[in-house]
Amino acid sequence: MQFLSPDGKPLTRFQAWQGFSATVGHWALRGFGLFAVIEKQSGDFVGRIGPWHPEGWPGLEVGWTIRSKYWGRGFATEAAAMAIEFAFSNLRQEKVISLITEANVRSIRVAERLGETRECTIALPHVPNATILQYRITKEEWRVLPRQSAR
Ligand SMILES: CC(C)(COP(=O)(O)OP(=O)(O)OC[C@H]1O[C@@H](n2cnc3c(N)ncnc32)[C@H](O)[C@@H]1OP(=O)(O)O)[C@@H](O)C(=O)NCCC(=O)NCCS
Repeated sequence: MQFLSPDGKPLTRFQAWQGFSATVGHWALRGFGLFAVIEKQSGDFVGRIGPWHPEGWPGLEVGWTIRSKYWGRGFATEAAAMAIEFAFSNLRQEKVISLITEANVRSIRVAERLGETRECTIALPHVPNATILQYRITKEEWRVLPRQSAR
């Protein structure tokens, strides 16, 4: 939550409820949303990764969150690559973005492994005073990029 909540602290139960509702509701409102990442062998829930575009976002984002016990195994990069492909092929996007807090080094590494590049800095509705890095990749860039590490 250090990089996900507005104040860097764990969410209250009410804020968590709002977050769950927005995550599930996004599917109903937009017809797509974050996917559950499941480890095939154990069936364990690993995290949530996928395309989403909440109100106030500058574009369609592919976002990633992995349970900490599964960090360092490449799951975020693997699942995000699938989500980017889904956004270009199924959602017919021309470009996807990823919005990352400046200090979130692990997340920046995921974006860079995927071939995303830094485009600009932005503010987001729920954290208007924070500087958020906007990474992006276009469909054209995605199609020509060698991505051994992401596939
Ligand atoms: C951001 C986040 C998803 C990154 O998770 P991660 O485990 O570092 O990323 P990946 O799953 O892509 O794993 C990459 C790491 O696994 C290693 N790895 C091991 N096996 C691998 C494989 N087969 N393929 C790719 N990488 C592999 C890589 O070397 C890399 O390690 P390193 O960063 O120490 O060099 C995770 O830290 C997280 O959920 N953070 C909290 C939520 C958050 O901040 N979300 C992003 C908001 S913008």
